[in-house]
Amino acid sequence: MAIWFSGMSDHETAVLTQVMARSGDMIDLSEISGKTVDKHSTGGVGDKTTLIACPIVAACGGKIAKMSGRGLGHTGGTVDKLASIPGYRTELSREEFFHTVETCGISLIGQSGNLAPADKKLYALRDVTATVDSIPLIASSIMSKKLAAGASAILLDVKTGSGAFMKTQEDAIRLAQTMVAIGEEAGRRTVALITDMDVPLGCGIGNSIEVAESAAVLRGEGPADLREVSLALAANMLYLIGKGTEAECRSLAEHAIEDGSALATLCRMVRAQGGDARVLTGERAFSAAPFVREVRATEDGFLTRMDAEAIGEVSVVLGAGRETKESVIDPAAGILLHKKYGERVQAGESLATLCTSREEVLAEAERRYQAAVEIGAAAPAPRPLIFARVEKDRIERFGGEGK
Ligand code: URA
Repeated sequence: MAIWFSGMSDHETAVLTQVMARSGDMIDLSEISGKTVDKHSTGGVGDKTTLIACPIVAACGGKIAKMSGRGLGHTGGTVDKLASIPGYRTELSREEFFHTVETCGISLIGQSGNLAPADKKLYALRDVTATVDSIPLIASSIMSKKLAAGASAILLDVKTGSGAFMKTQEDAIRLAQTMVAIGEEAGRRTVALITDMDVPLGCGIGNSIEVAESAAVLRGEGPADLREVSLALAANMLYLIGKGTEAECRSLAEHAIEDGSALATLCRMVRAQGGDARVLTGERAFSAAPFVREVRATEDGFLTRMDAEAIGEVSVVLGAGRETKESVIDPAAGILLHKKYGERVQAGESLATLCTSREEVLAEAERRYQAAVEIGAAAPAPRPLIFARVEKDRIERFGGEGK
């Protein structure tokens, strides 16, 4: 409570974080050859960038030994997305995990072991004392798990906007600065990007839908916003492990999409973990949801609002996410967005397709989707995808009014 009222200095926050990190297993990745780099997103709707940026980095020589979380509430989790690939094993033994990283450059698995148990206890206390929303406590919670996960460098994607934990750009930057300071004080190279989560990222929300969209980006297709944010994240991860200047790393990342090496890397990892990589190459389709419904524009105009959090909640109603930790995910459920923020729409045109295995939820999902979007007479001002980049002792802002 005292921290919630008074805050902490960067040094105090770093010390607390390191003690929390050491309260359980500290994963030792030192026997992996080459430089390991991890990525963390504060969570978003349609945020499947791990499935794109991490294979790009591995294709360029970085090593990714990454444990990812399950989704809860309106934000999805990488492990649930991966689990929608037929046969894919998200649980590996330590030996299998290390072997997959050595042979494929990358392994993505679910969280295992006993990482930062002090965080679980402190979070439970914060939850019942209304002290969750304290920047040093959020930063130490996130970074304790990242430090325990062992990578030598950490790229943070701090989301801001209606669908993000940090609703304003300034809070997102403060959280990013605190986490970068913690990482650097613990001897891990750390950079944060502040990226937009006022509208969902890409055009697909839902587990198999997001895997298919990620593979499309790696095949050189897919939505421009998702490709741009993924390339920026990948380039910064490559920068952190010394692959060149920011511009050189950006070219490396683009090239790994163009020459197909990033897609080949993802397919190799999926096969190594028992999955059917044909769903990534387009040779096989994911099982489709049995019930679909189009949400249609009620008038002519421009899409002036797409509330990311509310749209994420629609995906939960459809079965793509968890309301509670015990909820069961429907891998085929989700939303295909046909119109994004700023686009012109005509009355009767489809804004989105809702997909589910439970026909009875479609009417409620459609009502909520209509409430989450607004159609106005004039095109809204475009929003930047990336607002800022935070490195040790340095903030670059890329414009954009934001909130
Ligand atoms: N995510 C975490 O892991 N911890 C927090 O305190 C908030 C978000």
